[in-house]
Amino acid sequence: KVVAVIMVGGPTKGTRFRPLSLNIPKPLFPLAGQPMVHHPISACKKIPNLGQIFLIGFYEERELSLYVSAISNELKVPVRYLKEDRPHGSAGGLYNFRDLIMEDSPSHIFLLNCDVCCSFPLPEMLEAHRKYGGMGTILVIKVSAESASQFGELVADPVTNELLHYTEKPETFVSDRINCGVYIFTPDIFNAIEDVSSQRKDGADLRRLSSFEALHSATRSASTHFVRLDQDILSPLAGKKQLYTYETMDFWEQIKTPGMSLKCSGLYLSQFRVTSPHLLVSGDGTKSASISGDVYIHPSAKVHPSAKIGPNVSISANARIGAGVRLISCIILDNVEIKENAVVMHAIIGWKSSIGKWSRIQASGNYNSKLGITILGEDVTVEDEVVVINSIVLPHKTLNLSVQEEIIL
Ligand code: GDD
Repeated sequence: KVVAVIMVGGPTKGTRFRPLSLNIPKPLFPLAGQPMVHHPISACKKIPNLGQIFLIGFYEERELSLYVSAISNELKVPVRYLKEDRPHGSAGGLYNFRDLIMEDSPSHIFLLNCDVCCSFPLPEMLEAHRKYGGMGTILVIKVSAESASQFGELVADPVTNELLHYTEKPETFVSDRINCGVYIFTPDIFNAIEDVSSQRKDGADLRRLSSFEALHSATRSASTHFVRLDQDILSPLAGKKQLYTYETMDFWEQIKTPGMSLKCSGLYLSQFRVTSPHLLVSGDGTKSASISGDVYIHPSAKVHPSAKIGPNVSISANARIGAGVRLISCIILDNVEIKENAVVMHAIIGWKSSIGKWSRIQASGNYNSKLGITILGEDVTVEDEVVVINSIVLPHKTLNLSVQEEIIL
């Protein structure tokens, strides 16, 4: 058997995702109409002999429980949420639940970050991993030299694919090959984490013995169990014939900001063309709105036939899209109303918001800059004929004047 673990983090981790993470745990924010975590979970379905999927994080149980039980039933694979009492770091979190993860003695453990968007080539990784014969295989991708420093940079042997060198978010350039946050390990990973953990404990005990004051001993022993996969495990194991790399030629992005979530929503919509075309609206229905490119519309949403929609648009439950509305590159969340002849372009419209007639909600569409997409939080009202450009509007605001390049608190 094989198991998969998805690291979902917790409320303190999603701060760059505000204001959207004020309403919903980041892993449940919809991309292409499906919760963010749904995409790695459905990729796990392709793993041969998959026994269980675990989500590990420190969100409250009730925040994820509805989704977890629904997806368990849908996939017919047990999905369990394991809640940490506090953050243990990406490797510490895994180690914390080693007994549950090892319950059915799996031969391999997939480990996936929740906040990455890619095609998750998991069966291919498993095959490569078996061939290499190491303890772990890391999914890597080539990125531009300018962007590499935001990630773990690594060097691999071009022939054997062995991981030779690993540096987490280095200040000076190391390599344009980066860690995608998708791994496969043998159960030996738990020994590697334990080694780091016990070395730290020894160090802490020594320090405590040699000093009279045990003032900080509580904080020290807490940090004993905080282990990061990248700095604490991958870096020291590089070049020891234990870790290998598998390079993807497909798409890959990290989803830390609302802007990137809009970009990734588009990437997943275009992936649906191949994997789940039934989820996309087809543009040939004569009575329906005119559709261009990849568009998802929830079955409960009401769209006027004279609206024009796409590309990269996803419309969530119970949204109402009026006559003559134009939507381009946007995410429309639950219960939003967009009135006649409004235009929404490069924007995310929060739950229960209302956009007035002839209004324009737009942005430059630069996904990497802070105001490159316009974001309206929950329950924002934009009155008729108001223009909102490159702005972020926090929940429960009413806009009756046009704004540009502003954050409305
Ligand atoms: N359960 C749990 N507990 N999850 C955690 C914790 C924790 O204490 N800390 C982080 N995570 C989760 C995050 O939610 C995320 O999915 C993943 O673990 C990695 O988060 P970080 O440790 O904050 O690292 P990062 O996202 O900045 O960078 C990592 O991922 C990149 C790929 O997206 C690094 O491994 C980089 O090297 C890598 O390029």
